[in-house]
Amino acid sequence: MVGSANALPGMEANWESVLAGGHPLDAAIETVKIVEADPNDASVGLGGLPNEDGVMQLDAACMDGETHNSGAVGAIENILHPCEVARLVMERTDHCQIFGEGAYRFARSHGHPHTELLTEKARRRWIRWKESMSDQDDRLPPPKEPEAEKHGSLPTRFERHGTIHCSVLSTRGQVACTTTTSGLAWKIPGRVGDSSIVGAGLYCDGEVGSAGSTGRGEAAILSCGSHSIIELLRQGKAPIDAGHEVLERIVRQTQRMAQWQPSLLKADGRPAFNVHFYILDLRGRWAGVGLSGHANFAVADRDGGPRHEKIVPLLG
Ligand code: GLY
Repeated sequence: MVGSANALPGMEANWESVLAGGHPLDAAIETVKIVEADPNDASVGLGGLPNEDGVMQLDAACMDGETHNSGAVGAIENILHPCEVARLVMERTDHCQIFGEGAYRFARSHGHPHTELLTEKARRRWIRWKESMSDQDDRLPPPKEPEAEKHGSLPTRFERHGTIHCSVLSTRGQVACTTTTSGLAWKIPGRVGDSSIVGAGLYCDGEVGSAGSTGRGEAAILSCGSHSIIELLRQGKAPIDAGHEVLERIVRQTQRMAQWQPSLLKADGRPAFNVHFYILDLRGRWAGVGLSGHANFAVADRDGGPRHEKIVPLLG
């Protein structure tokens, strides 16, 4: 199993089922459901940060390497487990994606309950953001302390991403994966990120391996990041090299984009944001890579069971 750092509790809960020969998609979905339901994780599902209207809109997708099928939901509201709804899209329809109101109605038709996902803590952070946005509107600036301390600091522009990804290789050599998120905090209503886009926030191929991403979704979409990694694995690259090659592309693509959006680059010419990829091949080789900085990712293998390992940054 390989995935984002916040997948560790789920890997600990599901590692035995993988060792016992369980289906990789069952293990991946059960792993991420723990974080979807965790009100203390501010980046996924319940407790996540809402869009600019204060409404929680979630993105999720899953893919099964054995059947080469996928399902996704995007901008879905009031559903606790969008990863399970993505699986229903895959298994119970002839579609790959259902977004917005239709995704909610589809989930309800399969018995998923209507759930309020905006916690009081997240609502307070959102209203503080809204009150801080402009001195040209009629909302007064939010009270400073102690309110600000009590409910956590507001994420900066490039800290507003958070997601969970999990890829699994079964004892029978099958791969599957899922990615799920509440997406970018304060996003424009209806924005759908990479987590719902097969090829961007996740991809697997039963002949090759599995990959997924967290971080700036627009960069994963514009690089077709997860699909590109799988194609490099297919050509014989090791997971870490495949990941770094796609990250190098993202750096070059961002430098071109910065011609019209300079804030995408820091003063030193490096991207101002981060993207992480989690990669697994059919030989059981894995990697966690990122653009820059120190971070962990989660892995579980026969050598050491579930644990955190260090992301290998491209740029140090
Ligand atoms: N990677 C999560 C998002 O950008 O929505």
